[in-house]
Amino acid sequence: MKGKFITIEGPDGAGKTTQVRKIAQYLKSAGKNVLITREPGGTAFGEKLRDTLLSPGIESPVPEAEALIYAASRAQLIKKVIAPALLGGTHVLCDRFVDSSLAYQGWARGLGIQTIMEINSWFIQDWWPDITILLDVDPALSISRLNRARDRLERETMDFHKRVREGFLKVRDMFPERIVTVDASESPEKVFNAIIGVIKNIL
Ligand code: TYD
Repeated sequence: MKGKFITIEGPDGAGKTTQVRKIAQYLKSAGKNVLITREPGGTAFGEKLRDTLLSPGIESPVPEAEALIYAASRAQLIKKVIAPALLGGTHVLCDRFVDSSLAYQGWARGLGIQTIMEINSWFIQDWWPDITILLDVDPALSISRLNRARDRLERETMDFHKRVREGFLKVRDMFPERIVTVDASESPEKVFNAIIGVIKNIL
């Protein structure tokens, strides 16, 4: 049987990475085969693109170039990692996926959610997530949680981060069956319990 494809989304500082680790532990202790990966990155080629995308200090890509590089990293990850794992019966847990492009490049950068859908649908084809957990939180709170050096996108204005949140909520409304919102202003334990409540239903 094919594995389930689970993605975790949300604005910077929403606590995705902590939750991805906790979910993986939970699934492994329940005897499931799980592969954790992330975007941008997750492959050797994709990690190079990640460095290019996130290092501050270089010339910033124009929004169109940014959208295409995120898409390139995603295409590589699907073919090299996600599809083979799912076909082999392993569940895949991915820290960000296409909904980040829809929210950040489509909405916050203003390229249009539909345009980003078209670029990505071209190569995602059958590999849409089975379920997406959207960690929703006010950026004023999530950005204040970042207590480390900020990458190029994290250095954007508060107005940008507000648009990212708005974008995610719009995308959630476009895919109400696939995307489930979890309130990420709660404690990590509460957020985790809410996520497990959702994931249990599809495994
Ligand atoms: P992330 O891995 O969440 O950063 P960190 O581990 O430092 O929290 O994501 C990197 C950044 O890339 C984040 O600001 C969101 C952005 N991003 C996009 O703009 N579009 C995309 O398609 C993806 C996957 C990420």
